[in-house]
This record gives sequence, C-alpha cells and structure tokens, in this order.
Amino acid sequence: NMPEPCAVVIFGATGDLTHRKLVPALYNLAADGALPPAVSVVGFARRDKTDEVFRTEIEEAARKFSRQKINDELWSSFSSSIFYHRSEFDNLEGYEALAKRLDELDAQRGTRGNRLFYLSAGPDQFPVILENLRKSGLNKAQPGSWARVIVEKPFGTDLPTAQILNNMVVEAFPEKDTFRIDHYLGKETAQNMMVLRFANAIFEQLWNSRYIDHVQITASEPLGVEGRAGYYDKSGALRDMVQNHLLQLLCLTAMEPPAGLDADAIRDEKVKVLKSLRPIVGDDVRKYVVRAQYGAGAINGKRVAAYRDEQGVNPTSVTETYVALQVNIDNWRWAGVPFFVRVGKRLPKACTEIAVQFKGAPAVLFNATGETIDSNVLVIRIQPDEGISLRMSAKMPGSSLQIEPVKMDFHYGTSFGKATPEAYERLLLDAMSGDATLFARRDEVEEAWKFVDALHDAWAKESEDLAMYSAGTWGPTEADELIKRHGATWRRL
Ligand code: BG6
Repeated sequence: NMPEPCAVVIFGATGDLTHRKLVPALYNLAADGALPPAVSVVGFARRDKTDEVFRTEIEEAARKFSRQKINDELWSSFSSSIFYHRSEFDNLEGYEALAKRLDELDAQRGTRGNRLFYLSAGPDQFPVILENLRKSGLNKAQPGSWARVIVEKPFGTDLPTAQILNNMVVEAFPEKDTFRIDHYLGKETAQNMMVLRFANAIFEQLWNSRYIDHVQITASEPLGVEGRAGYYDKSGALRDMVQNHLLQLLCLTAMEPPAGLDADAIRDEKVKVLKSLRPIVGDDVRKYVVRAQYGAGAINGKRVAAYRDEQGVNPTSVTETYVALQVNIDNWRWAGVPFFVRVGKRLPKACTEIAVQFKGAPAVLFNATGETIDSNVLVIRIQPDEGISLRMSAKMPGSSLQIEPVKMDFHYGTSFGKATPEAYERLLLDAMSGDATLFARRDEVEEAWKFVDALHDAWAKESEDLAMYSAGTWGPTEADELIKRHGATWRRL
C-alpha cells in the first residue's frame, strides 16, 4: 500500500536525527521502491545554504548511516527531490515563504498539496513551530489533501509539559493527523509481539499469572551520552528510556487482545495497561527502584570516562544513567506477576529483549534425582539478532538422567533471509499513509508520564540514593538485590 504523493518538511534539517535516521530511512524506502513517485523532502533550518550544499551534506550522512549501500544513480534521482528552506523558527514570514514554495513544488512535482511536517528540532522549538504552522495556515490542507505532523521525542519532560505540548498540537492538528514518535514501536520485533501472542494458539493460554512467574525487560547500551549531555543530564534514564520505549514494550507484553487491528483499538488496550500500573510512591521507591550512574571503566577493553567527567555533564551530577525497577500491574491477568525493567548506558552489550519467565514444573518427579531444573523462558529479542527463543529442559543423551536447558530458536535473518528495515522507515511510511497504530496517542503519553512523575517525586522526597557502577559492568549490585527479593536473578546477556 503505497502512500499518496506528498511533501515531507523536516524542521531541524541539519540536526543529528535527520542525518543519522531520517534521510537514510527515506533513501532506503526509495531504494526499496516503497515511496510514491512524487515525494519532495524539504529541510527547514536556520543556517544559510543552497539546495545543492544541503544535498551534498546529507549525501555524506546517507553514505555513512544508510543500512543499504548507496547506489549513485539512485542517489542522484533521489537527491533531486530534496530542497532546503532557510528560516528562523520564530519568523512567520519564513513559513509563509515555505507555503509558497510548497505550492510551487506541488505544481512542479505533483505532490498534490499533501504535507507531512516532521518536528525534529530541539523540543524547546516545538511550540513556536506549531504556532507558526497555524498562523501561516500550513496546518490546514486544501480539500482533498492532507496535512499531518510527526512529533519527535522527548514529548514533554513531565505530565504538565506534555499536556501543554498536547494542547498546542491539538490547536494545530486533529489527533488523527498527529503522529507522536516512539521509534521502539517501529522495531520489527516489537511489532511481532502481537503476532506472537495473538496468532499462535499456544502462548496466549499461558500468558497470565497462573503460569508466568515474572517478566524481565532489558535495554542495555554500551554507548555513553555521546555529545547529548545538555539534554541527557536534565533527563536521565527514567525519562529518556522508561517513560516511552520501555513502557511501550511492557504494554505490548501485558495488553489484552484488542477488539481489532486499527490504531485506536490497539492503543485503547495499551492505555488500559498504563492505567493499571501501581504507582510507585512514598517509601516504595526504595523497595522497587534502583537508580545508578556509571563511573569510569572499560568498554570492549577501551577505557572510558565516568559520567561526571563527560563533556557537558555537571561534575556533581546525580542524574541516573541506569535504572532498574519492579513494575506491578494491578489487573486480573497480572496480579502478583512483577515486571522487572532495567535500562542503562555504558553496559557491556547493546541488547534489548523481553524475557517471559514461566513458573517451574511441580517439583515432584525429578527432585529426588538431585537435578536442578530451569524453568521455561520465552525470550523476544528486539535487537540485535532479532528473534524469539524458548528455553526448555531436555535429557542429555546417555545412560544416566541428566537434565540440561536447551533452546528452540527463531532468527529473523535465517527464516526470512533479509535484513529487517529500520524503525524509522516503517514509521515514516505509516505517517505518510495516515496509519497511527505505531505512534503514541495523547492519553498514552500522559498516562506514562503520570507513572514516571509519581516515581520521580518519590525519589526526590524519599531518597537521594544514587548507586554507582563501573562502565562496562551490568549495573550496580543493588539491582541484583532488587530482583533477588522475588527469588530471581537478572538474565545474563
Ligand atoms: C533514544 C534515547 O530515544 O533511544 C537514547 O534518547 C538511546 O538515549 C536510544 O540511546 C536508543 O535507541 P536504539 O534504537 O539505538 O535502541
């Protein structure tokens, strides 16, 4: 289902996201023949430059960051659809000039008045961009055309700021034309969660507190703050990763079967999960949450600095770069089943996974043999090496009874034989097609902030405790204690 021709206007076109993700994604879509024949990409930014200079800059970025090798011929036709529009974000005339330019491009290129505005500038610019889109009338499409907006993260820094931003978005664009990005939802294996659960008869029967002991959701990265200290030091791991990506993964794991596959049916179910999260307030923050920051250490044998010594970080910063928490979902399906979530920077490996740990078999038959039997674990690997595996127990060949864990393993690469597309490819395509399923709805974002804000307040009031871990290790020992209280250990990845 090819989207209609359109112009994609990127605000913040000279930024990192445009270079690393958006342009490579658009190029890959073009290379896969997934874009409509008439698409114009218009970069909107402050610096003065010509279309030609802009094209050369993003060509360099595409060559560096694209998952497919750049084909020269294809690039030259793709790059002829790229334009640059210089303006300050707060200058209404710049938007009026943009409107004129888009009309001209419509006439030249056949983009039919369809517009997709991508807010990828700094979040402090979002209000002024939205205001000027409204004042210039760019938010309103001509009859028969559409105007949509994609809003990058961070979507606010807490509930009040998210609500303010939501109100501003609503003034300019109706909810159906608003696409709040959470790029984890565009990851292939995250999308597969629903198929795994609802297209296979065997799992859903077991997907509840009778059979599941607990769930572990991990997102680990060896990267540090990578030049984003200005943003990250104010944000921290809880707001940067848990409020959005990790809670989304938790929702996909915990939600009820939706009434249909449309965007609202699915998002209704995710909101129900978020509303069932038991708030972590008061003293519970000590019991259920560990926050930590990395000290100096080594990643792949290379020395790396402590977080506080990174450029741009306050040398006495108490921002967490790691957080582990126990989330309790107070609903029928999940009462009594903790969801352990951990996320951190400067951990040994890049790995995101959801591990569903089943209860053990009744200890009646094999316990006399002295064998320890590991319980079943279903692991959904979001990245890298996307796939799904099931751990079970098997008898080792031989005359004695020896029981060992073995794995049934599905790898995307092996089964489907092709590279999985990048999250941004899928998300851009969906926004062009008007499909909001993989984007966060207003109430989802706000419910997630409610949970995170309560936790933050409790942190501030109850404890300033910040554990430390060395870069290149799996986090602080306090996190091991947290999960041990449930009689479990973190998976070794
Ligand atoms: C971003 C966070 O949303 O996700 C970053 O702001 C983080 O801090 C990144 O590194 C991780 O994304 P991915 O796709 O590399 O797992």
